[in-house]
Amino acid sequence: MKKIAVIPGDGIGQEIMQAAVAVLRRTTELYGIDIQLQQYEAGGTAYDRTHTPLPEQTVRAALAADGVLFGAVGGDRWDHLPPALRPEQAVLGLRKALGVYANLRPITVRPYLASYSPLKEEIVRGTDILIVRELAGGIYFGAREEAAEEAGKMRAWDTETYSVSEIERIARTACIAAKQRRRHVTSVDKANVLATSRLWRRTVQRSAATAEVTLDHMYVDNCAMQLVRCPTRFDVLLTSNMFGDILSDEASVLGGSIGMMPSASLGEKTGLYEPIHGSAPDIAGKNIANPCGTILAAAMLLRHSLGKPEAAAAIEHAVDAALQEGWRTADMYRDGMKRASTADMGAAVLRQLR
Ligand code: NAD
Ligand code: IPM
Ligand code: MN
Repeated sequence: MKKIAVIPGDGIGQEIMQAAVAVLRRTTELYGIDIQLQQYEAGGTAYDRTHTPLPEQTVRAALAADGVLFGAVGGDRWDHLPPALRPEQAVLGLRKALGVYANLRPITVRPYLASYSPLKEEIVRGTDILIVRELAGGIYFGAREEAAEEAGKMRAWDTETYSVSEIERIARTACIAAKQRRRHVTSVDKANVLATSRLWRRTVQRSAATAEVTLDHMYVDNCAMQLVRCPTRFDVLLTSNMFGDILSDEASVLGGSIGMMPSASLGEKTGLYEPIHGSAPDIAGKNIANPCGTILAAAMLLRHSLGKPEAAAAIEHAVDAALQEGWRTADMYRDGMKRASTADMGAAVLRQLR
């Protein structure tokens, strides 16, 4: 039996996770996959109850699980907390504890959703990008110091460090992924300014030399522009932790909505699966969030952590079929379509599962 730790988190995390869990349960029943789903708390709601955003029990369960499905954490209510107690520490701490260093964020523009992009349909049509984001290092995990203006400490700082081995392992992930795709890696950096980026560029260049992929390098500012000018030029985008965070939110709307986009975070141990969006406080509790990103993250869990590609594909097809039937949550709703709440969207996907 495979153990799945389910962590809904805060805000829309609770709503989208209900839909995703129902789909995961049904799929595993249909495919005869023996799993046990157990729910754990993290984020602001965990802080309210236990005074820590990432309870020990959640970390232990995640480490012992075969896969972790995560919703989202955060919210204005907890923004005043000291950095170590903020809800975002839950997801950062979990990534650290699980040693997941490779964050895969597929950005696909489904042909029937191309007109839902804020860009012209002819620009986004055919876009199929895999963002491979380094997740365990960089400026997210470097030394930092907070300012304390009330005590006269008027300066704050963060540091970005990357080692050769950290860059090599993520470059390897990108090259392996590219070989199963169009064999083209674009490595993103700011090597015209940053020392870490210069090491990044040299190391990626060396790592990819024998990988039988086409490698090019692009400055992150140009990349942000090229993503909206001509997204079809990209296959695999290899990025540092922060650049990947920013570029993936930008790229997510090419396919209609950030609510559609899943991710897998992989390392040596248990994999962590989440939508790429956050807890969306502006729409939380209204049953209108798009659950598809989380549902598709469950599909990635089946593929990458449980080795069940058919079951994963069944979920992906069911999401496609529900959307092609016309179901749209508020983020993508337009006249003439079927208006779906979060629960309706989940139910529409469930009906399409076979
Ligand atoms: P967000 O991704 O939560 O929301 C950005 C915008 O996208 C909002 O307008 C929101 O309504 C919309 N949106 C997001 N997901 C959606 C969905 N499934 N369906 C429909 N619309 C959706 O980003 P934010 O507003 O910058 O951050 C809100 C909180 O979430 C913050 O506390 C932030 O730190 C946290 N956050 C957490 C994670 C995570 O847990 N992995 C990721 C990103 C942000
Ligand atoms: C994401 C989020 C997180 C990140 C935050 C909540 C720490 O934005 O998963 O994209 O920056 O990695
Ligand atoms: Mn983000």
